[in-house]
Formats: sequence, C-alpha cells, structure tokens
Amino acid sequence: MGRVRASWRVAGAVGLLAVAPLALAARAGAGPRPIYQTTRHDAGTPNSDVVVRHHGVVTSYGDSAITYSAPPATLKALGYALYLENCATCHGTQANGVPVAGTTGAYPNLVGLGPATIDFWIESGRMPATDPRSVEAPRRPPRLTHHQALAIAAWINSLDPSYPGIPTVHLRGGNVATGMALFALNCAACHTIEGDGDALARSTFAPSLRHIPATQVAEAIRTGPGNMPRFTGNLSDYQVRDIVKYVTTEIQHPRNPGGFGLGGLGPVGEGFVALLVGVAGLALIAFWVGERQ
Ligand code: HEC
Ligand code: HEC
Repeated sequence: MGRVRASWRVAGAVGLLAVAPLALAARAGAGPRPIYQTTRHDAGTPNSDVVVRHHGVVTSYGDSAITYSAPPATLKALGYALYLENCATCHGTQANGVPVAGTTGAYPNLVGLGPATIDFWIESGRMPATDPRSVEAPRRPPRLTHHQALAIAAWINSLDPSYPGIPTVHLRGGNVATGMALFALNCAACHTIEGDGDALARSTFAPSLRHIPATQVAEAIRTGPGNMPRFTGNLSDYQVRDIVKYVTTEIQHPRNPGGFGLGGLGPVGEGFVALLVGVAGLALIAFWVGERQ
C-alpha cells in the first residue's frame, strides 16, 4: 500500500516538473510585447555644415575620414525577392514592421532606417533572426552574403531614401592615441577598456569587440544597435575614424610591452599567474639550496 502511494507521489512530482516550464512559456508569450516602432529617419548624421552629395546621396561630411555610400539601386529587384524570402514573415511585406495579420509594433519598422542599419544587422548575422521574441538578437556568422545584404538594403532604402549610408572608414591617418581617449570616454563604460564587453541591465549585454570589422564598428557607432546609444553630433567623422582605428588595432591586436600577454586577462588573473610561478619557483629554489639528510 505504502509503496503504491509513494509511486503516485513520484509521478505527481514528475508531472509538475514537466508542466511548470510549459506554464512559464505560456506566461511569457501572453505578456505585452515591447513597442518597436522607431522614428530613426536619417539617424546617425554627424553635425556638419559641409555635406557632399553624389547623385543626391550624401557621400561625406566634407572630410576624408569616412565616405558613405548608398547600395546601388540596380540591386533593388534582387533585394525585394531576398527580403520576401528572409525578412517579410516578421517585418512585414512592406518592411513597416507589421506582419501579415499581425499587430502593429510587434517588430521593428525598417522603413527610413538608412542602409548602414540594414547592412549592420544582416552582416553581423543578427538578422534574419531565429527567435521572433529576441530582445537582443545575438551576433552570429552571417547567413546572407555581402552582396545579398547590399541588395536588401537597396530595396528597403528605395521605400524612403535615408541616411546614414554604408560607411567606408579610411583608417590611414587615424590616430590610435586619440581613439583610445575617445573610446575610454564614450565606449569603455559598457564594452570595458579592453573591449571584452560586459553585462548590462535586464539580461542584455555589451558584446566583445574583438572580431568586428571596421565597417561594422563605424555602423554601430553611427546607428546605435539595440541598447547601444547612437553617436551622431557629438562625434565627428575624424573622431569615429580614430575610435575605429583603436578598436581594430589595439583592441583586436594588442601589443604587450610587458612581455607575455597571457591573453589580456587583466591585473587579477595575470597577478595570480605571477604569484603561482613566483612562489613555485621560490619553493623549488629553497628546496634546492636547503639541507637534506
Ligand atoms: C523571426 C523574426 C525575424 C526575421 C525573420 C527577421 N527579423 Fe529583423 N528583427 C526581429 C526582431 C525581434 C528584432 C528586434 C531584435 C533586437 O532588438 O535585438 C529585429 C530587428 C531588426 C533590425 C533593427 C531595427 C532597429 O530599429 O534598429 C533590423 C535592421 C532588421 N531586424 C532587419 C531584418 C532583415 C533585413 C531581415 C531579413 C534578412 C530580418 N530582419 C529578419 C525579427 C526578425
Ligand atoms: C550604454 C552602453 C554602450 C555604450 C556606451 C556603447 N555601446 Fe556598443 N553596444 C552596446 C550594446 C548593448 C550592444 C549590442 C546591441 C545589440 O546587439 O542589440 C553594442 C554593440 C556594439 C557593436 C557591435 C558588436 C557586435 O557584436 O556585432 C560595436 C562594434 C560597438 N557596440 C561599438 C561601440 C563603440 C565603438 C562605442 C563607443 C563609441 C560603443 N559601442 C558604446 C552598448 C554600448
């Protein structure tokens, strides 16, 4: 008799364990979705009186540090086909963030975001997303090629031409020291001075900057993906170039003036290695010089 009751209890517990995650999942799905609609038309434009246009498209802000380009309009048709295949289920066939039979505000509106934003999210592998409810879509190996990203950006941009274009950073002439100072001031609070990234509030995080190509660093600075602020008027193109140069040289290829780098673990980890090697070495020496019987 007792044995039967115990096995019922075990079955009950197992049942509860199986149902609990389902109940939690149902709750998460039922909650209000975040409002994603943005008004970011022409975002990422630095304050500048000098605006150089080429066929109506802003190509630079009067200096040689960064040139911006709009993807060629000839890619529009290809871009629309790729968009329908890869993006429309979530962002809607009009790219306005309203999926077929969906609710307004369920997904970000992409119209008017500018080619740099579209290019960044595709080339950093964040889009097309796999999780429709993701709060911070993670960086992944890109699933579309550079050409395909340009094509999709060309079609979306044709709906409402906007800035910033896709930046090409002319790193030659950039100043790493100035870049480091600007990075410490503007970026290190979230990404850490070594660029390793860190946790932020509500299970979001600032990612590591160790393997990000120059174009994507500039795109992130100018467009502010997700929870990252957008840096526009407060950073000139010269300053963005210096920061990108610092990130792609010092952070991604650190020099170690002090000998072995130990993977840039920081003072605590490196101090621990020094202690371990030092104490073990001293112990060995003491053992060697000490008297033995
Ligand atoms: C499974 C659904 C889904 C698919 C498919 C998808 N997206 Fe997204 N997209 C999202 C979600 C959710 C977000 C918000 C994620 C975040 O903030 O981290 C987002 C964000 C974006 C953003 C950032 C918008 C902003 O305001 O900063 C861009 C740009 C974007 N998507 C473009 C695309 C493109 C282009 C495609 C197709 C190649 C695509 N997405 C496919 C769900 C999707
Ligand atoms: C308030 C915190 C914050 C500050 C300040 C900040 N970032 Fe970010 N950054 C983020 C977050 C959060 C993300 C991830 C966004 C996402 O994936 O939705 C990010 C993403 C990035 C990425 C993309 C990395 C990847 O994995 O693709 C780059 C590059 C970047 N930041 C560079 C910078 C630079 C350079 C600065 C200074 C000019 C800066 N960030 C300032 C929070 C910050």
